[in-house]
Amino acid sequence: MTEDTFRSLSVPTYRGSTIIYSDYESFVNRSKLGRKAYTYGLNGTPTSRALASRLTTLENGVDTFLAPSGLMAITTTLLAVAAQGDVILFPDSVYAPVRRFAATTLHKLGIRAEYYDSLAPETIDFGRPDLRLVWIESPGSITMEFQDIAMIARQAHAHGVLVGCDNSWASPLYCRPLDLGADIVVEAVTKYLSGHSDLLLGSISVASETLAEQIHDTIRSIGVGVSPDDCFLALRGLDSAGVRLAHVEKTAVRLAEMIRGAGTVSAVLHPALDGFPTQALWKRQYAGSTGLFSFVMRDEPDDAHGARFERLATLRIGASWGGTHSLIAPSPVDHAVRTVNTAFIGKRLVRLSVGLEDVGELERDLNAFLG
Ligand SMILES: Cc1ncc(COP(=O)(O)O)c(C=O)c1O
Repeated sequence: MTEDTFRSLSVPTYRGSTIIYSDYESFVNRSKLGRKAYTYGLNGTPTSRALASRLTTLENGVDTFLAPSGLMAITTTLLAVAAQGDVILFPDSVYAPVRRFAATTLHKLGIRAEYYDSLAPETIDFGRPDLRLVWIESPGSITMEFQDIAMIARQAHAHGVLVGCDNSWASPLYCRPLDLGADIVVEAVTKYLSGHSDLLLGSISVASETLAEQIHDTIRSIGVGVSPDDCFLALRGLDSAGVRLAHVEKTAVRLAEMIRGAGTVSAVLHPALDGFPTQALWKRQYAGSTGLFSFVMRDEPDDAHGARFERLATLRIGASWGGTHSLIAPSPVDHAVRTVNTAFIGKRLVRLSVGLEDVGELERDLNAFLG
């Protein structure tokens, strides 16, 4: 038997830092080959390229670059597009570590971060001359504000301003920000796309060759590389992402409706529930509602609040989301750094990431939590 009779459905895990060249000429001229050539392990392997290529198709982009975490996909993007003197506008509800990066690394580089009201992006001054990029995170992953991606992109482009979008909540299965006009879309592949809480990865997909070259240059200069094992697992996760999303969405809607009826809860932040503040934006731009949502307890947490979390049998206490195990997280303390819109801030907020467990078990747990 020869190896070429072994035909598997999965992409092999190619490992390698060094790429071997067949002759002297091809080695000395390798830098002329462009970003798509295999020149060094850091520049991609067939495994990472397979994942990037599937994501490019899903996002309807021109190219995709991978980073070792969702956070690094965001920070690499910001470093690639902004320069000293530029302003980046972030939604007030942005993932808190991005705010930290802006206040530390971007600040040191002379790139200024400012924040807009996630519920009122129309108040952005798109015409200010120092504005380089408007960042969108839709929805805010804790407080669930959906944004009008198409409107922001239209207004930004009218003034030559770029738009980047963190689409990790929806994934490209439920929203394609590039189709709505964004220039760059970032996914925390860590979440729904890989889907099993066992790896960290991020992706950056772009709408133009110019941006592809810019991101590639930054990735090369910083030395961003990803593990082929993680890419293999992400490719495997992608195969079931559609089924997992549909399942967690169905369970999450049922749980959200149940939670809404609890006397101890004052609001459920789930876009499929009538009365949700940015429901029209969700309906217009998204194909589904996934399994991540939050709710707000009626009363400020008392001494017994912690005990509610410890009553749970199926729900685990933990950060992150998008995996097969359901998670519950008290409101993260550092979210209180919001500067523009402080609605729902504080310890009354609880976030749920619904997984694949039996819905009856989750209902029992939540009834115990809310009682
Ligand atoms: C909305 C959002 N974007 C990005 C990230 C970062 O992803 P990672 O954990 O892969 O760095 C997270 C992580 O929780 C997130 O919630």
